[in-house]
Amino acid sequence: MTSEPVRIGVVGLGRAFVLMLPTFRNDPRVKLVAAAAPREESRAAFNAEFGGRGYASVEEMAADPEVEAVYIATPHQMHADHVAAVAAAGKHILVDKPLAVTLEDADKMVKAANCAGVHLIVGPSHSFDAPVVRARAIIESGEFGAVRMVQAFNYTDFLYRPRRPEELRTEEGGGVLFSQGVHQIDIVRLLCGGRARSITAMTGAWDPQRPTEGAYSALMDFEDGAFATLTYSGYAHFDSDIWMDNVAELGGAKDPKKYGAARRALQNLHPEAEAKLKTTRTYGADTVPPAAENNEHFGPIIVMCDRADLRLRPGGIDVFGDAKRHSIDIPLADAPRRTVIDALQAAVRHDIAPPQTGEWGRASLEVCHAILQSAETGQKITLTRQCGVVVQEETL
Ligand SMILES: NC(=O)c1ccc[n+]([C@@H]2O[C@H](COP(=O)([O-])OP(=O)(O)OC[C@H]3O[C@@H](n4cnc5c(N)ncnc54)[C@H](O)[C@@H]3O)[C@@H](O)[C@H]2O)c1
Repeated sequence: MTSEPVRIGVVGLGRAFVLMLPTFRNDPRVKLVAAAAPREESRAAFNAEFGGRGYASVEEMAADPEVEAVYIATPHQMHADHVAAVAAAGKHILVDKPLAVTLEDADKMVKAANCAGVHLIVGPSHSFDAPVVRARAIIESGEFGAVRMVQAFNYTDFLYRPRRPEELRTEEGGGVLFSQGVHQIDIVRLLCGGRARSITAMTGAWDPQRPTEGAYSALMDFEDGAFATLTYSGYAHFDSDIWMDNVAELGGAKDPKKYGAARRALQNLHPEAEAKLKTTRTYGADTVPPAAENNEHFGPIIVMCDRADLRLRPGGIDVFGDAKRHSIDIPLADAPRRTVIDALQAAVRHDIAPPQTGEWGRASLEVCHAILQSAETGQKITLTRQCGVVVQEETL
């Protein structure tokens, strides 16, 4: 039945799952029916909240006949194996960003989903944020002409949030590129038509205690002629949320009294204790982020079109036209990441793929690697694995 909730199995009940909870709890178009997780406590918490079945392995869960689609929220480096297992069972997939760490894994994942005939959606990423989706619709309408230039900018405390050790090793997917850059890249690609042409970039890895990239600046140009600058710092000093109406990334109010809290919490912690601290932010540990009052965001974004500049902010979009300026309000939906469920439901029930397919995730991953490569070699890197913003026609 097309109106029935999509029955979801979850792999990985960690931090990413916690961040999806307000959406899963508040969107009647989905129902959580099973989970695979190694920790007994989190399986028990899942069972207490959602009923359903807990499994110790992904393969067993994917074989559960009630499961129609699987949300994979395990560490990046496990995504490839987990996508392969779920695709082999013929279930649709929502895999959290980034698609993978290596492009070889990304190729295998795209192939596995295509061979199995299942949808592979990469998300949530901030390209699903409601103001970004609306900005894309405005651009597609042609009302203000072509996109010429985009600026995306974000200063956060990312590098000082509690981490598993591999999250601080670039070659294993650590640092700001794979976890944070990919959000910004997804947003910019969506706004500029998807097909980036080249990257020139520099990165910074300036804290010897956390020796992975904590910052970058990149210049990206597109086949359609637009270009974009992307700047990110996770060094926990300036916080660009003050330029986003004091709204934090997840849509909650920013508390200025908490300045410096991220660095303070890590003081004198050795890596094991830090990884343990991370698990206090996991499912079943009773730490749920404060309820969002606004849409999520990923820092200031300005889109310059021929006849207007668009400023994206948590509450909507400010349009600075030739003769007048106006604002479009975008209220928060009951399910904060409603657009992710829109995509999942359209894929599972109507066979319509969103822009953020496996191919899309691979193209954004290519940009992450190109930023690292450009910074290392001092060269401009030509991109070869890009794809456009294709929204498939309904095929059912
Ligand atoms: N979109 C977002 O807002 C967002 C936010 C945070 C993390 N993420 C992404 O989610 C992924 C996970 O990151 P995280 O911060 O939640 O990590 P985490 O360590 O908090 O959670 C990972 C979970 O996976 C579980 N796990 C490990 N091996 C497993 C296996 N074989 N089967 C089932 N479960 C297994 C762990 O027990 C843990 O609970 C990463 O790819 C990250 O980029 C996305």
